[in-house]
Parts: sequence; C-alpha cells; structure tokens
Amino acid sequence: MENFVFQNETRIVFGKGTERQTGSEARKIGRRVLLHYGQGSIKRTGLYDRVVSSLKDSGIEFIELSGVVPNPRLSLVKEGIELCRKHGIEAILAVGGGSVIDSAKAIAAGVHYEGDVWDFYEGKATPSSALPVGVVLTIPAAGSESSVGSVITKEEGLLKRALNTPVIRPKFAILNPELTYTLPPYQTACGIADMMAHIMERYFTNTRNVELTDRLCEATLRTIINNSAKVFNDPEDYNARAELMWASTIAHNGLLNTGRVGDWASHQIEHELSGIYDIAHGAGLAIVFPAWMNYVMQHDVERFAQFASRVWGKEINPFDMEDTARQGIESLKNFFSSIGLPVRLSEAGIPDDRIDEMAEKATLDGPLGNFVKLGKKEIKDILLMAK
Ligand code: NZQ
Ligand code: ZN
Repeated sequence: MENFVFQNETRIVFGKGTERQTGSEARKIGRRVLLHYGQGSIKRTGLYDRVVSSLKDSGIEFIELSGVVPNPRLSLVKEGIELCRKHGIEAILAVGGGSVIDSAKAIAAGVHYEGDVWDFYEGKATPSSALPVGVVLTIPAAGSESSVGSVITKEEGLLKRALNTPVIRPKFAILNPELTYTLPPYQTACGIADMMAHIMERYFTNTRNVELTDRLCEATLRTIINNSAKVFNDPEDYNARAELMWASTIAHNGLLNTGRVGDWASHQIEHELSGIYDIAHGAGLAIVFPAWMNYVMQHDVERFAQFASRVWGKEINPFDMEDTARQGIESLKNFFSSIGLPVRLSEAGIPDDRIDEMAEKATLDGPLGNFVKLGKKEIKDILLMAK
C-alpha cells in the first residue's frame, strides 16, 4: 500500500426533504450567493422554488446564473466570474448535476485570479483559493459534489479539460434521493456508468496489498449493479435511489483510492469524445471502458479475473484465467447495453474519421494512464476497437 493523506471536508446532508436545509447550510459559507443551475429541470420539478424559499428564510441575498449545459462551457464560466466580481458574491450554490457543479467550481476558482481561468485547466497555473461552493445534487453520476475535480469545455478547439485541486471541493452537499425520481432513464444510466467508471479507474492498479480498497470497490460496484435494476423497474424506489446516490459520492470522494494509484486513461480518452461530439460523459465511458479493458487485460489477467469473480460472480477457471477475465469484461459490456447505453462508437452515431485527432489531442501532454501507459498509437487502437 502507498502512503496517503485522506481528507474530505464536504459536509454531506443526506435524505428526504433535505433541500429545505439549503439556506441554513449556505449561510455558513456566505450571505451573498450566486445561485447557479442548468437548463430548467429544477424549475420543472419544483426544486427551484423550494431552494429559493429556503434561501430567503435564511436571509440570504442571491443572484442567479442559469443555462449550464452538459459538458459545461468556458464562456458561461467567464460570465459567472464577472457577475461574482460585480456583485461582491461570497459563495456559489450549485443546484444540479456534475455540469452545474463543475461550472460553479470554475467560477469559484476564477474570481480571485487575475489571469484567464482557462490557465487552470491547461496546467499553466494552480488556484490558491476559491469562493466556497455548496451543492444541491440532482443526479448521481459525476461525484463532483464531493470531489476535487471540475471539467470544462473550451468552445474554441472543443477542448475538454479537468482541474483537480482541493480548494474547489464543495463545503457542503445536499443529497436527497427523491430529487432523482424525475431523471430520464438515459440520464440515470449515464450516471450509473460514470460512477462505475470512477471505481474501475481506481480498481485497475499496479499497487499491491490493497485488499481493503479492492473490496470496498467491489462492494460499491455490486451495490450499484443490484440497485440499477430496481430503479429502472420503479424510478420512485427511494431506497434504490438512495443507494445509487450515496454510491456516486463514495465512488469519487477519494476514499476508494486511498493507498493506491488509479489509472484514468479511459476518462481522458472519453473527454476527447464528449469534447468533440458533445455526448453524455457516462455514455462515452460505456463505449471506451470495455475497449480499454480488452486492450490492457494481458497486463494483469489475474486482476481482471478477480473483477469477473468478485463483481460479476463468475467462477474462476484456474486453467484459463484469460477466459474468466474476458467473461468479466463481457458482463460489464452486456450490463451497459442492458441499461440502454451505447457500447460502440457507431451505436452513439460517432463516425471513425476523427479517431486520429482524438488520439493526438489526448496525448498532447504525454502518455495517458498508470496501469498501462498509452501513447497516441495505443489510444487510436482502443478507439478503433470501439468502432
Ligand atoms: O440542465 P438541466 O435542465 O438541469 O438538465 C440536466 C442535464 O440535461 C438533467 N438533469 C439533472 N438532474 C435532473 C435532470 N433532469 C431531470 N431530473 C433531474 N433530477 O440531466 C442532464 C445531465 O446533467 P449533467 O450535470 O450534465 O450530468 P452529470 O452529473 O453526469 O455531469 C456530467 C459532467 O460531469 C463531468 C463530465 O465530464 C460532464 O461534463 N465530470 C465531472 C467530474 C468531477 N467534477 O469530479 C468527474 C467525472 O468523471 C466527470 O468527468
Ligand atoms: Zn467520470
């Protein structure tokens, strides 16, 4: 096991009706707040009204910035930064999913920075401070509600890049599983693929002697798989929604990678896909992850066989571990298909004529991944396997 420091200060307020505590939670981080949200789902569901009345009850002044799109854009972030400066905003409240939260984090990091906020996403600068961010989560998926990450797309060049720094980790996150009843099945499925991917990125590691985190990863994956069927049968199954919501946070709050080095190549390859084709991140991962697995499996067949056995219940064949390993990958792929996700580029309507460009962009800063290092040629091969 590797040395590690684990600290996660996001205060999680979990359960039914908890959005009514938004005002009292927000008051701890600021009196003048930017209320940031997406394209209107929160108005259609009535959440907006409840959040606003909670803010008013707590005496919080706020201004609004809506319009965050999936794969959030840099231009809106810049608009948000200007608004915060102009109105002396002290904190940002993100009401929505990963896209809204990531946009809020980018604004928070940019307010005190004199340069271009995109510098943070290009690795040219690191934010030393940020406005505090609070969250009311509406979709379990990205784990941004308690993560150090923010992923933004720059329209010019369609570059989708991540910033990872503890200063943007949300101070609180309100997680009410009832808020996820209104999710369209496709969004639920994309969220499931994303949280599973966050676990699998950590699971496929070269670090030895990490039994506890191996088993935490496996338990979280199995919980997600078990409860997925339930939410597709009954979108208002509170307990199943609750399991998924907590799993999405656990998948990406740093606990599951304590003492081990994760891979993350699949995520970076996916960011090229959603950067150019604007598909949902979870759908892109359902395409990339199985192809990546088939490509790197030989590197550690035993680990893939363990994944097949402990997560998918496959019997280990000691005489043909590769066969067991492949069964695990097939199970994952079939699972993604069964919940309505594409597992091939063609199924998502993505042609193969920009594979070279994606492989090039993905490796601009060097090879990807830690489990297996991947250069441009290998990434191209993986994308071709996913055609
Ligand atoms: O914009 P609105 O109208 O709110 O609609 C959203 C959006 O269209 C809708 N939605 C959300 N909650 C809903 C709902 N519709 C009905 N009822 C509800 N309760 O769902 C759509 C998708 O929302 P989005 O926020 O884009 O989804 P998600 O949470 O999957 O976020 C995806 C983004 O997160 C990034 C991804 O790259 C992608 O840009 N990621 C962020 C990470 C992080 N910050 O740590 C890590 C991840 O790996 C990921 O890269
Ligand atoms: Zn992700």
